[in-house]
Amino acid sequence: MIGKKIQTAIDEQINAEIWSAYLYLSMSAYFERQNLRGFANWMKIQWQEEVTHAIKFFDYVHSRGGQVSLKPIAAVQIDWKNAIEVFSETLKHEQHVTALINNLANIAVEEKDHATNSMLQWFIAEQVEEEANAEQILVQLKMIGDNGYGLLMLDRELASRVFVDATKAANNL
Ligand code: FEO
Repeated sequence: MIGKKIQTAIDEQINAEIWSAYLYLSMSAYFERQNLRGFANWMKIQWQEEVTHAIKFFDYVHSRGGQVSLKPIAAVQIDWKNAIEVFSETLKHEQHVTALINNLANIAVEEKDHATNSMLQWFIAEQVEEEANAEQILVQLKMIGDNGYGLLMLDRELASRVFVDATKAANNL
């Protein structure tokens, strides 16, 4: 049976993951408006990934005999100045999510909840990748600057991203 404190903290994390999904879908819509379909694709896959993160927590709570209480989803930003601003915000947001996951792990340790701590190791590793992906694109965008051709080349590259449900890989709880 899952403890009350962990249960409440995971409910908040489910909300944060769904909010992240909503934010990235809004960013995808922004890129669609800019006719940058590759960037829009990348963000739409990011949206899918965040939904799987939320579901991983959702399923985990139920597997431990807990009960999920879903909270309202706050509004997200709908417009940005340019792609650099979008990816700066993406990186900042992922750093924030990393802090939330680390805080959850701290609570699991305090509560001596080893199962939750073990489940969170997947998210801790995932956050390293999430931050690295956003940072890599941000660095490339800064290199591109005002070069429209460079932006189109990167857009083509991001169009090739496909969704893989990493939460379904082996060794996941
Ligand atoms: Fe669910 Fe982007 O971390």
